This record gives sequence, C-alpha cells and structure tokens, in this order.
Amino acid sequence: MTRPTIVINFAISADGKISTVNRDPSQFTSAQDHKRLLEIRKRADALLVGRGTLEADNMSMTIPAEMQPRHQPLRCIASRSGKFNPDHKVFQTAGGALHLLVTEPDEVTEFGPLEALGATIHLCSLEEFLRILVVKHGVQTLLCEGGGTLVRSLASLEAIDEVHLTWAAHSLFGGEDAPTITGELSSHLPASIQFELTHFEPLENGECFLSYKRTPHDS
Ligand SMILES: NC(=O)c1ccc[n+]([C@@H]2O[C@H](COP(=O)([O-])OP(=O)(O)OC[C@H]3O[C@@H](n4cnc5c(N)ncnc54)[C@H](OP(=O)(O)O)[C@@H]3O)[C@@H](O)[C@H]2O)c1
Repeated sequence: MTRPTIVINFAISADGKISTVNRDPSQFTSAQDHKRLLEIRKRADALLVGRGTLEADNMSMTIPAEMQPRHQPLRCIASRSGKFNPDHKVFQTAGGALHLLVTEPDEVTEFGPLEALGATIHLCSLEEFLRILVVKHGVQTLLCEGGGTLVRSLASLEAIDEVHLTWAAHSLFGGEDAPTITGELSSHLPASIQFELTHFEPLENGECFLSYKRTPHDS
C-alpha cells in the first residue's frame, strides 16, 4: 500500500477515553499539550481529521505564524457523506490547501460551493486518498488528529506508524460509549498492531507525554 508515514496524536483521560459519551470538544488538557500538538503539526506535510472532529472542535487546522512553520500543512478532512458546511471556520481561514475525502457520496450533494472556496474533492476510498497524497502531493508525513472513528479505519488498514498521547491523569470520563483512540470499545480490530514506547515524560500538572513507534517486525 502506497501511503505516507502516518502519525496520530490524542489526549486521553486516565481511563483511556478521548471524549465523553456526549462527544464534547476535546479541551480537557493543558496549554503544554496544545503546544506539543503544534510541534508535531510542524513535522507534518498534511493534517487529516474526520468531519466529526472538525465540527466538535471547531478546527481551522493551521499552525500559528509565531511558531514559524516552514509551511502550512495540507488540510485533509474525511467524510463518508460529504456533508461539509461551507460556512465552517476551516473554509474561511487561510492555511494549507484543503483536500476533502468523500467515500460514499450521494447523488444530491453539491460540491460546487466547496470547490469555489478552493477545496479539492476526492471521491474515492481512504486507501486511495492516502496514495494520492503521496503520489500527487508529495506528502511524506501525515498527522491524523482524530477522531476515533477515522483512526479505527486507519488501524484497520494497519496504517499507523507513530502514536503520540497526552495521558491526562487528572480526568476520568467513564462511560461505556465514550470513545477511545480507535472509537468505541464494542469491537476489536481485525489484527493487533505492535508499538514500542519511545518517549515518556511526566509533567508536574498531572499529564504525561507518551510516544510510541510501530515495531519493525510488524510493519
Ligand atoms: N482527545 C483528543 O485528542 C481528541 C482528538 C480528536 C477528536 N476528539 C473527540 O472525538 C469526538 C469525535 O469523534 P468521532 O469518532 O465522531 O470523530 P471523527 O472520526 O473525527 O468523525 C467521524 C466522521 O468522520 C467521517 N469518517 C470517519 N471515518 C471515515 C472513513 N474511514 N472514511 C470517510 N469518512 C470517515 C464520517 O463523516 P460523515 O459523517 O461526514 O460521513 C464520520 O461520521 C469529538 O468529541 C472530539 O472532540 C478528541
């Protein structure tokens, strides 16, 4: 499978959840966590989120100028339905080129308004989209910032190379239906993916930065 190196980043509660059962916005971690996310963004040629995360977290998917990014990464958003809102902040904010993946379009969805805002629409599978990012847009490193539903699809394709977590010992979300980094807990992945811990950094504020790399024998 031709694809970029795929890095994921999440904040998780002490009980391993990325959000509450109500899918509240993910603002339960510190300014240090946000700064670390922006540092990881700086390594990426492209960012990818699911439409659920884009909307829950009202994202613009950019790196602030004061962080002196070498460029603004491509902004990629995945949807099955393609029901993007052209008034959303991401379409109204300057930043990296917008690439919208739509895997199951219906016949009535209009993409003209999104194209008029400069977005490129890709009507294909997630696998094919990852290939296009490499072959046509030179993307070597892609940072997926969630949510769990999208990351589950990447995990099912065995398309995750690095995992960065901020483990927030100060928060417990509970709730059987609260999502984890691979979505809801109700079903297992088709196969295990092995990672090794490469970074462990406890902070004074009750958070811990963790990084994992996929183990070579499993790649
Ligand atoms: N703690 C953290 O670090 C963190 C990070 C990210 C998100 N979150 C939280 O997670 C929650 C959102 O979770 P979620 O699972 O609903 O979000 P999500 O994965 O971002 O969004 C789900 C939507 O994305 C699209 N999608 C997902 N997988 C796809 C695939 N394989 N192909 C095409 N489209 C796909 C679909 O869009 P359509 O409905 O348009 O078809 C789907 O309904 C929010 O509460 C957010 O704050 C937390």
